[in-house]
Amino acid sequence: MHIVATNNYEEISKKAAVIFLNQLALKPDSVFGFATGSTPIGMYLEIIKQYREYGYDFSQALTFNLDEYYGLKKNHAQSYATFMKKNLFSQLNIKEKNINIPDGEAQDISSYCKYYEKLIANNPIDIQLLGIGANGHIGFNEPGSQANSATRLVDLSAKTISDNARFFKNKKEVPRQAITMGIATIMRAKKILLIASGKSKAHAIRALVEGPITSRTPASFLQNHPDVTIIIDKEAASLLHKNYSSENGWSDIFIYNKNIYPRHKKILVISPHHDDSAVSCGATISALSEDNIVNVLVMTAGHHAAISKLTRQQKIKCREKETVAESKVLGHLARFGNFKFYDANKKYWSQDLEKFHSIWQRIKPEIVFLPHPHDEHPTHFLSTELVLDYLDRKKIKNTELWHYEGLWSQHLLNSINIVFGFDNKLLGIKNKSIAKHKSQVKRLPLVKASQALSRFRALTLPEQRFVNFGGEPPKIADYVEAYFRVKY
Ligand code: F6R
Repeated sequence: MHIVATNNYEEISKKAAVIFLNQLALKPDSVFGFATGSTPIGMYLEIIKQYREYGYDFSQALTFNLDEYYGLKKNHAQSYATFMKKNLFSQLNIKEKNINIPDGEAQDISSYCKYYEKLIANNPIDIQLLGIGANGHIGFNEPGSQANSATRLVDLSAKTISDNARFFKNKKEVPRQAITMGIATIMRAKKILLIASGKSKAHAIRALVEGPITSRTPASFLQNHPDVTIIIDKEAASLLHKNYSSENGWSDIFIYNKNIYPRHKKILVISPHHDDSAVSCGATISALSEDNIVNVLVMTAGHHAAISKLTRQQKIKCREKETVAESKVLGHLARFGNFKFYDANKKYWSQDLEKFHSIWQRIKPEIVFLPHPHDEHPTHFLSTELVLDYLDRKKIKNTELWHYEGLWSQHLLNSINIVFGFDNKLLGIKNKSIAKHKSQVKRLPLVKASQALSRFRALTLPEQRFVNFGGEPPKIADYVEAYFRVKY
């Protein structure tokens, strides 16, 4: 079991949402198992927020809910059908016909349960979300539920009835029975994500993680599942004997691709030299240029480059021409900063900051792409420093920085929190854009080197960042550009 201890409910919600969204990014026709209760509400809000901002598409997704009260009408305010509609489904583009929630009004209950079970067997769940009851129940598998139990009608325990009374006018109104997936049904999901928050869950979490496997704590059967993640806050973790850290893990890393990316934003890409942006993030720029305004600002004039037989002025002209050709391939707007620091023997000049200020004012970017702060190439480092210094001085807020890596200096693994996956088609566009820098590809095989880095990331990051080392990694894409995003 992979246990992620977080600081609070908000962190649980964000991390859990990332895991579900990444599942969708990897497999648009994923089968999701959903849960109700108070715990998933924050996660559902986060999914909705990300869905709106980044263009996730649930149209091919299929969903199964864990359980439903028996005897409540579908449209009853407290039915789980109403809960799911209100808190998630009505806000996403999930198709009505792809939503499955046990029918609390079913007449022939035993045949209905067999039908629900079969439906799940025919459409295996890729990832099942679970909460946990204070008594260790999962779904409505109350203490006493057996490992081989299937979807069925169950009596709710006195504890669950009193816990759930808060949602009804009074305890008498709480239904006494429910239809629930069984333990065996849940255990067939390929992955399981259980979330729990607060002191009231601490006993159940200890019994689940450290206790014996017993039907007295139905959640303890999860110890036998090969792929369970448990995300909890400090209070829910408080009775565990071992200390689980909230180290950066794969619940902090987003998978984007040519369909999933920020939209309707003003974007500024800082390119220290003319070719850096295409080499480091050409595929991402090409995708973003569809629905955003992308400006690439080349910081230096480029005349230090070794281009034989050209004068300083001719070199500058040549490199600008190559960048304009690149911009036609990627779809961005090229700007030339010609910052003085390139020729100076010092950090940068106040004129450089003033010039950057006027460019910033013109673009008013919401997202800035730039080299990562530890980039060892001096010109890259200075470019990043200038931008960060400017943001500090002007106390600029609400900007996202996406630090990219390049051929001269790569990210540390733990600082990667966005992977942009792409296919051969986008690779072709990226390669073409790099090849426009004819004066440079002669000197160095930039296309090959950048392709090799993207391929290397695609092959190694899935294991390095998405599973415990040695686990079976997901296939993200053929190529990957990796970023460290910080909100400024
Ligand atoms: C809900 C469900 C239940 C809840 C559990 C925790 O579909 O199956 O097992 O997950 O009762 O409920 P909350 O989150 O309200 O504490």
